[in-house]
Amino acid sequence: MSEPIVELVEAGKDYVSGPTVVHALTSVSVAIEPGEFVAVVGPSGSGKSTMMNIIGCLDRPSYGVYKLAGIRVESRSNNARAVLRNRLIGFVFQGFNLLPRTTALENVELPLVYRGQRASRRRAQARRALEQVGLGDRFHHTPNQLSGGQQQRVAIARALVTDPPLLVADEPTGNLDTRTSDEILALLQTLNRERGITIVMVTHEPDVAACASRTILMRDGRIRSDKHQGRPRDAAAAAAQSRDAADSMVDSERGGA
Ligand SMILES: Nc1ncnc2c1ncn2[C@@H]1O[C@H](COP(=O)(O)OP(=O)(O)OP(=O)(O)O)[C@@H](O)[C@H]1O
Ligand SMILES: [Mg+2]
Repeated sequence: MSEPIVELVEAGKDYVSGPTVVHALTSVSVAIEPGEFVAVVGPSGSGKSTMMNIIGCLDRPSYGVYKLAGIRVESRSNNARAVLRNRLIGFVFQGFNLLPRTTALENVELPLVYRGQRASRRRAQARRALEQVGLGDRFHHTPNQLSGGQQQRVAIARALVTDPPLLVADEPTGNLDTRTSDEILALLQTLNRERGITIVMVTHEPDVAACASRTILMRDGRIRSDKHQGRPRDAAAAAAQSRDAADSMVDSERGGA
């Protein structure tokens, strides 16, 4: 069997603020294999983002072990973790986190700037990533000239431009309507199936979690259940269905006029 891409062993996170200590994560052990699509669910405050920040090397556990692609990360410096992050992980957040007044192309190029790549090569890679998410005709639009779903696509292109083996997404569809959300999920399912990218995604929505092949339920900083799904929901089919429904609504309005 291959080595897990993500492995937490008895890892925890305590936040100390003044006299109070919050046990945001308590002795969590979990292994995620390359190619899995994992949904992390659970009530607000249950430790989902805390765990994602550790998995994404944005933060480190207070105790326990974190191995990313076999590399122990918990004791590394901020700089060393930043390098690992840039090499191995793509991030997608609910709020998109795009730079305003900056074109789609420049937003997607940014992780390559940090890599010190030449401008012409950066540009070519960013174009390709935007084309892959269906935004080949929006290179020079700034975020305020794009719809929510398009902004999220730019964010996904930015996450993928470095060709990372792991995509970490915290509520990637949290700000989107059902159909746009299905379109984004269809894109994630394609990336997972066709490019073998491992995805770990936090969500509140059962319909969104149903698109993953494994669901981890958290409560009070612990993993309460961990289940594999034999037949994940097909987001592309659902998105096509709501497109057809919207089209027939327009047709019947036209017919009635
Ligand atoms: N920087 C921090 N300092 C102190 N406490 C924190 C900090 N970040 C998170 N917490 C606490 O840790 C617990 C877990 O927070 P976390 O953000 O992981 O929850 P979550 O499951 O992502 O919730 P949500 O669904 O609302 O995003 C919460 O009780 C929160 O108040
Ligand atoms: Mg959260």
